Amino acid sequence: MADPIVRVDDLVVSFPSRTSKTPVEVISGADLTVERGSCVVIIGPSGCGKSTILSCIAGLTPYAGGSITVDGDRVDGPDDHSSVVFQHASLLPWRTVLGNVEFGLESRRQIPKKEIRARAMEAIEAVGLAGYEDHHPHQISGGMQQRVNLARAFAVRAPLTLMDEPFGALDALTKELMQDELIRLMSMVSSSTVFITHDIREAIYLGDKILVMSARPGTIIAEFDSPFGADRTRAMTEDRRFDELESSLRDLLGHTTEEVLT
Ligand SMILES: Nc1ncnc2c1ncn2[C@@H]1O[C@H](COP(=O)(O)OP(=O)(O)OP(=O)(O)O)[C@@H](O)[C@H]1O
Ligand SMILES: [Mg+2]
Repeated sequence: MADPIVRVDDLVVSFPSRTSKTPVEVISGADLTVERGSCVVIIGPSGCGKSTILSCIAGLTPYAGGSITVDGDRVDGPDDHSSVVFQHASLLPWRTVLGNVEFGLESRRQIPKKEIRARAMEAIEAVGLAGYEDHHPHQISGGMQQRVNLARAFAVRAPLTLMDEPFGALDALTKELMQDELIRLMSMVSSSTVFITHDIREAIYLGDKILVMSARPGTIIAEFDSPFGADRTRAMTEDRRFDELESSLRDLLGHTTEEVLT
């Protein structure tokens, strides 16, 4: 089999505890791989460490043990291998839609200004926001803001896109539209994706592979390959296999408990 783009082996992450001198172990021996061009979804209870794993893969959070490689290189800080869509919309309010998409490109090395403009415009068009380039974030809806976030992530053309519950705050209808938008974008740029959610149906709809995490300290407790091919349509949700996978995932997640505060 081809070399996976992401390889996480025996990952251990701890944070300082507020109440004791011993650090709290948040991720305890997690393993995962992401095949090139695929979308891997991670699902798990709140506080189990989903955002932490993503942040480690992005090189934004240091880890205490194990190893992470992206595109063959060991991750030991932020680099150009991945782009991130954060759990909370992170647009700069003083920049326009165009300015926000360009911002993601400006932090990358050696992209000429002209190319930054061209790539940003292309990404804005791809997410259906042509005509809104000069609007500021407060002048567009929450769904449109999330489109800007997607455009910003995809404009950099990183081999890996890391998405942390990007549609968590959207209403059900907008969420479905955005999921379809994402499927289109993923196939257009043939990028590899790690997508985090706590929405079971979203996980099944988007994932080529679905990984289930246990409650903290988090580790991967189960892995499901999607029974559906690359051709993702809403008709999938009417399929018996969709419901079967949903109940398996619901059973598993029912056995994990919510975070216990320390
Ligand atoms: N910088 C930090 N310092 C200390 N503790 C942290 C830090 N970041 C996360 N944690 C703790 O690590 C645990 C996992 O957090 P994380 O944000 O990864 O969970 P999550 O699965 O993404 O949760 P949610 O579904 O609510 O977004 C939580 O108990 C959280 O309080
Ligand atoms: Mg999170």
